[in-house]
This record gives sequence, C-alpha cells and structure tokens, in this order.
Amino acid sequence: MAARPTTQAALSESAGIDAAEATPNAAESGADARSVTLAGPLVLVGLMGAGKSSIGRRLAQRLGVPFADADAEIEKAAGRTIPEIFEAFGEAEFRNGERRVIRRLIETGGPRVLATGGGAFMADDTRALIKERATALWLKADFETLFERVSRRSNRPLLKTSDPQATLRDLMTKRYPIYAEADIVVETRRVPIEETVDKVYHAVLDHFEREATPIQ
Ligand code: S3P
Repeated sequence: MAARPTTQAALSESAGIDAAEATPNAAESGADARSVTLAGPLVLVGLMGAGKSSIGRRLAQRLGVPFADADAEIEKAAGRTIPEIFEAFGEAEFRNGERRVIRRLIETGGPRVLATGGGAFMADDTRALIKERATALWLKADFETLFERVSRRSNRPLLKTSDPQATLRDLMTKRYPIYAEADIVVETRRVPIEETVDKVYHAVLDHFEREATPIQ
C-alpha cells in the first residue's frame, strides 16, 4: 500500500469509525519534522497482549487518522462479547464473523489504523486482503510481556486451558512465522506505552519513506 511521505503534518480525510478521535499528528508539536499521509489502512497484527488496541489508538492520533478495533466491531455486530460469541457459537463462527468484519473495515474505510484480534492474520483470505489493500504491522512481543498482560484479564477464550502458559507458547510457535509476513515488524517490551508508540510511529515513517525512494 502506498503512502505519501510529507514534511508537514497532514490530516487524512476519512469517513471512518472514531473519526472524532483523529487529531493533527505529532509533526505539529515538533516531535518529528517528518510525517506520513496514509493512503490506506494500517493493520496491526500480533498475539493477544501485544498492545494492538492501546498502541493502535494512540498511533492513530499521532498519524491523524481514525482508529478502529476489529474485535470491538465484531462485538458490536453480534451484540455479545467475544467470550459470549465463543460460548454460544464456537470458534469457527467467531472466525467467520471476524473475516466479514475485517473485510468490511478494509474495503469501506479509507486511511485508518485497524487493530485486529490475534487470530485474524492467520486466515489466508484475510491475510491476502490485508497484503493487497493495506499495510500490516506486527507488534512482536516476548513471552513474559504477553503473559503478564493477558493474565490481567480473563477475556481470552483461547487461554482458558489447563496450562495457559503452554497454550500461549504454542500460539507463538505457530503464529510468529505467519505474523513475520507483515510489512513492518516492531519489537515491543515492557516499557511505558508512549515509548512504544514512538517506536512504532518512527517504524511507520521509515517504512513509507523507504517505499517512496526509487531503487537506484
Ligand atoms: C484471539 C485474540 C483475541 C480475540 C479472540 C481470539 C486469537 O483478540 O480476537 O479472543 O485468536 O488470538 P486480541 O488479540 O485482541 O486479544
């Protein structure tokens, strides 16, 4: 997905969700003279607890685009929470809904930051769509960071096993090679969130600057 790197702040126009949250980006505050105008969705992928929603929301503000959260949209569409969807219909039905919602968000939205649930990028068709129409960014976290974060809440049906640590490790083994297909990879650790947002923001700028530079 192409984007226009600029040297001044640019506010993308979009009829997306949470448009009210869009604010001019950080270039105006002088934090970084560079900025980027996204041409399409920037999709955050990665395991549960990687910080896709909390970082995504702040990143969107920084980029001056709307933010959308696929899990929240699935819950809105179903009128139930994710654990309730798993409980009532099973994982396969959840995955069908997830596919539909992400397709709608990518096909109908303009530039925006979109946080996806940890399993979304594992679906071949969703991954192909993201590769074609968007830019994927993997928030890559280590096991300790992930486990500490997911342990704070009990809203992850996939971790309701007799050994959640082993389940999480198993998901890392299976999913990390697929997440690695993302266009941008940012390693995150347990540091203050603004530090991570800053790191992600600069990785995004670097990525689009590289894309805009013709190969010599
Ligand atoms: C899932 C991750 C969850 C949610 C569902 C399944 C997964 O989202 O979509 O519980 O398969 O990894 P988060 O990654 O936002 O926790």
